[in-house]
Amino acid sequence: MIIVKALGLLKTVSSSWSRKHVLSLKDFTLPEYEVVLKTATSFREVLTRRNRKVPTLQGKIVVNLFFEPSTRTRSSFELAAKALSADVLNFTPSSSSLTKGETILDTARTYLAMGMDLLVIRHQESGVPTIISQDLDRLGSDVRVLNAGDGRHQHPTQGLLDLFTLCNALDPTNPRPGLLKGIKVAIVGDILHSRVARSNLYSLSASGAEVHLAAPPTLLPLYFQEFKEHGLILHHRVEPALEKARFVMTLRLQKERMGEFLLPSLRAYHRDFGLTRERLKICDPEVQVLHPGPVNRGVEISSDLMDDPVLSLIPQQVTHGVAVRMALLYLLGGGD
Ligand code: NCD
Repeated sequence: MIIVKALGLLKTVSSSWSRKHVLSLKDFTLPEYEVVLKTATSFREVLTRRNRKVPTLQGKIVVNLFFEPSTRTRSSFELAAKALSADVLNFTPSSSSLTKGETILDTARTYLAMGMDLLVIRHQESGVPTIISQDLDRLGSDVRVLNAGDGRHQHPTQGLLDLFTLCNALDPTNPRPGLLKGIKVAIVGDILHSRVARSNLYSLSASGAEVHLAAPPTLLPLYFQEFKEHGLILHHRVEPALEKARFVMTLRLQKERMGEFLLPSLRAYHRDFGLTRERLKICDPEVQVLHPGPVNRGVEISSDLMDDPVLSLIPQQVTHGVAVRMALLYLLGGGD
C-alpha cells in the first residue's frame, strides 16, 4: 500500500521531467534538483520494505559500461536497476570485443541492436558519455545515457547523491535543495583531478550553499576562479575553509591521475589538509563529514573520523546512492 502511494506521488513528480540524458550538472535547474530529490525520497522508502522490488522498469534493458574500476557506483547502479525490475547487462572491457579492436561507439551500437533502453557509462576520458549519447541520438534511438563519471569532467550521479545526503542531514522528512541556502560547505582535497568536486560545485551553488574550496596550490589551480561567478571561495590553507563549516567534503588523492609530483609527501598532505576530529573543532558544532569513496584512510581523513557514526555521513552516501540512481533510471526510463 505504501509502495503504491509512493509510486502515485512519483507519477506526478516525473511529469515535470523532460531531460533525455544525464551527462553533467552544469545545466541542471533548481526544479530538476527538486524532482530528483523528491523521487529519491520515495525510492528510499521502497528500499526499506522487505520486498525491495517494484515493477517500474520491467522489460527494460539497462547496460552498465564501465571502463574504469568502480565498487560503489557500478554496484549501486546495478542494484538500482534490479530494484526497478530492469534486466541488467554488466560490460567488462577486458573480456569484450574491445580487445579485438572494436570501438566504443560500435560496442554501444551492438547493445542498441540488442534493444538496450538505458546506458550507464564510466570512462577515463572526459566527454566519452557525451559522444556516445550524440551518436545514439544521430541514429534516432531513444536510448537514455547516464554519465557514471568521465575523466576529470563530471560525475553527476555522485553530485546528486551528495546533495541528497546533505539535505537529508538537515531535514530527513523532506530533503530539498532549498535547505542549503546560506549553509557553509567546505570541499577539501584533490580538487584538480576530481570530477566529483566539479559536479558538486554546480549542485551546491544552484542550491544557494556557501562553497569554500581548500587544497594545496598544485591541487587547486587558479583557473577554478572561473567558478567564482557561482559564489565559490578558494583557499590554499584548510583552516579558513573549515571555520564554522556545517559540512566538510573531503576527496581522495587521485594518485592514478597525478602525472607529476604534486605533493611533497602523503604524510605532509595529511598534516596540512587531512581531516581529523581535532581539525574539525573550528567548524560548526554540528559539523558532518562526507567522502565519495574510495578512501585512503589516514591520508585525506583519519581512520577514527571516517568510522565515527555521528560525524561521518559516508555510509549514508553509499545507501543514498541506490535511491538516487533508482530515481534517475526511473525519470529517464519513463517507467510506469
Ligand atoms: C569517485 C570517482 O570515481 O570519481 N568515486 C566514486 O564514484 N564513488 C571518486 C574517486 O575515485 O576518488
